[in-house]
Amino acid sequence: MNMPKCSLLAFAFVILPSNLLAVSAQKSTDDLVQCLTNRTDNFTGLIRVIHTPQDPTYTPIYDLLFQELRFMTNSTPKPQVIVTPLIESHIQATIYCSKKHGFQIRIRSGGHDFEGSSYISEVPFVVLDLFRLNSINIDVGTAAAWVQSGATLGQLYYAISQKSRTLAFPAGYWSTVGVGGHLAGGGYGALLRKYGLAADNVIDALIIDVNGAILDRSSMGEDLFWAIRGGGHGNFGVIVSWKVKLVAVPEIVTVFKVNRTLEQGATKLVHKWQYVAPSMHEDLTMTLRISSVDTPQFPGRTMLIGFESLFLGGADRLLMLMNRRFPELGLTREDCMEMSWIESVLVLGDVFPNGSSPAILLDRAAAPKQYTKQKADYVEEPISVEGLEGIWKVFSEIEAEAGGMNWTPYGGRMSEIPESEIAYPHRAGNIFLIYEAVYWDGEKIGPVSPRHVRWVRNLHRYLTPFVSKNPRFAYANYRDYDLGVNNKGTTENQSVSWGIKYFKSNFNRLVQVKTKVDPDNFFKNEQSIPPSNVTTF
Ligand SMILES: Cc1cc2nc3c(=O)[nH]c(=O)nc-3n(C[C@H](O)[C@H](O)[C@H](O)COP(=O)(O)OP(=O)(O)OC[C@H]3O[C@@H](n4cnc5c(N)ncnc54)[C@H](O)[C@@H]3O)c2cc1C
Ligand SMILES: *[C@@H]1O[C@H](CO)[C@@H](O)[C@H](O)[C@H]1NC(C)=O
Ligand SMILES: *[C@@H]1O[C@H](CO)[C@@H](O)[C@H](O)[C@H]1NC(C)=O
Ligand SMILES: *[C@@H]1O[C@H](CO)[C@@H](O)[C@H](O)[C@H]1NC(C)=O
Ligand SMILES: *[C@@H]1O[C@H](CO)[C@@H](O)[C@H](O)[C@H]1NC(C)=O
Ligand SMILES: *[C@@H]1O[C@H](CO)[C@@H](O)[C@H](O)[C@H]1NC(C)=O
Ligand SMILES: *[C@@H]1O[C@H](CO)[C@@H](O)[C@H](O)[C@H]1NC(C)=O
Repeated sequence: MNMPKCSLLAFAFVILPSNLLAVSAQKSTDDLVQCLTNRTDNFTGLIRVIHTPQDPTYTPIYDLLFQELRFMTNSTPKPQVIVTPLIESHIQATIYCSKKHGFQIRIRSGGHDFEGSSYISEVPFVVLDLFRLNSINIDVGTAAAWVQSGATLGQLYYAISQKSRTLAFPAGYWSTVGVGGHLAGGGYGALLRKYGLAADNVIDALIIDVNGAILDRSSMGEDLFWAIRGGGHGNFGVIVSWKVKLVAVPEIVTVFKVNRTLEQGATKLVHKWQYVAPSMHEDLTMTLRISSVDTPQFPGRTMLIGFESLFLGGADRLLMLMNRRFPELGLTREDCMEMSWIESVLVLGDVFPNGSSPAILLDRAAAPKQYTKQKADYVEEPISVEGLEGIWKVFSEIEAEAGGMNWTPYGGRMSEIPESEIAYPHRAGNIFLIYEAVYWDGEKIGPVSPRHVRWVRNLHRYLTPFVSKNPRFAYANYRDYDLGVNNKGTTENQSVSWGIKYFKSNFNRLVQVKTKVDPDNFFKNEQSIPPSNVTTF
């Protein structure tokens, strides 16, 4: 007789507080929305700025946030509010109101973060989605541009090409990547060996700090300006726009893409590539795209190595260079495609049908969204032929049918820039960067595929002896929570584990800057830089 009463009581105790929690959570969301509405007017013209789950605009915008489809599940926590600012005061209001009502902010520019850190948080949060802040102002005379964080790389490239055939910007290959996250984390592409990273070519920026102050380079000071170039992912404030230096390219550049299989001697070619690609003329960035194929032509699988290059010059000079340094590849005149720089962006982007107009670069949805897990490595010494043959074995596993690597040579300008010049640290001493990825058909398999994720981790494990060690370095723009995340609750200083890997010795300076500009750690995520007196997340 006592039992039911007891459990009834227990039941009441369990249910009541959680109900109260729900009620108070709803109340604080209402307070937040009230605060935001008051400070932004909600609408500017016909365009809505504040989106709650009840608003018809919420779901379409929420779906647009996702670039990394493996997080598109029912259990992924959603933001209580999405704010899509049109002007700076909307960002100031979001910072003020989120702070006041105890919400975290996640900042999203292009949404390409590998771990979804721009739109997923486990505590009540607001997504500040900058996609409408995408203006681009190009000044051909001074070869400079102001670009807002919400623009995509494709939009920036297209805008430059509309003004000049001989100016370019050295950033990533994928056109839908956001300027905001990309420049804040470094950003490399086909002009890397000649001009360094996107972040190396930033000359000014506007950031809104935790107090709502709008700061440019001179008012933020050189420490913070240093930190946001490579270490700027949601750590110090909202970077609204960037002033970048445009770089010179010839009217005609040359692209080639040739494939070689194991049967065509690919192993020896890859071995030699490690010696020549990082030391060739800096006008040439020759990358490798490594995958395996199982086709009627190659039943039972072979490795397929794509040699893909941008050369800042005509085909004749390229052929001369290649014949001198890398005759084994057997590059021919027919392999060389001469074109303008903007056309090379389309061809190297690799997702656009042959013959697409450059205007396709304006389309935020032009590149496919994928189910993926990615990892990265820096290589300091060439990998032996036996090592390469071992890698090919990992690619004979079934999950490798949708797995691959890109190898991007360093050297050139990358070796000239000192490690401490900006927060991005990986410079001289590296011969190439590896991007390791696996893809799967989420429509069939589901958003999460443990066996595919296991395959790419296995590839990563196999690469251990061949890549940087003690510690094994990583690239902040290829965010990987496997490296460690900030603590939730315990006091161990976890930031050291991922912090040193992304930032080398620059990590300590980043901690100092953080301590100065955001001492209460308002801007945070799973891998944000902590102030020096903070260990818990
Ligand atoms: C398909 C694909 C191809 C890629 N190709 C390349 C490549 O060729 N070269 C390369 O270097 N990288 C490449 N990347 C990696 C890419 O550079 C990073 O994922 C980059 O951080 C994405 O920027 P984003 O604005 O699109 O992402 P977001 O997810 O919007 O942002 C990334 C991080 O930065 C923070 N952040 C975003 N905007 C701001 C802001 N305005 N102020 C402060 N913090 C901000 C976010 O909160 C998040 O933590 C690629 C990624 C993908 C998915
Ligand atoms: C709206 O904002 C103004 C100041 O901008 C403040 O005086 C007023 O109290 C606010 N109203 C509400 C309901 O928050
Ligand atoms: C914004 O304003 C519209 C129209 O007044 C209203 O329907 C909507 O609920 C408001 N949204 C928020 C989040 O206040
Ligand atoms: C190289 O191989 C890839 C993958 O099979 C294919 O898509 C591409 O068209 C090939 N490129 C050339 C130049 O043959
Ligand atoms: C695109 O097509 C044209 C003509 O059909 C061809 O000459 C050219 O080589 C193709 N380019 C690529 C990158 O495949
Ligand atoms: C860290 O120091 C800052 C500045 O003194 C202070 O505002 C903040 O509350 C401290 N944080 C912790 C967790 O002690
Ligand atoms: C955590 O480690 C970093 C890097 O060594 C250091 O700068 C920071 O002060 C440490 N924080 C604490 C609270 O110990």
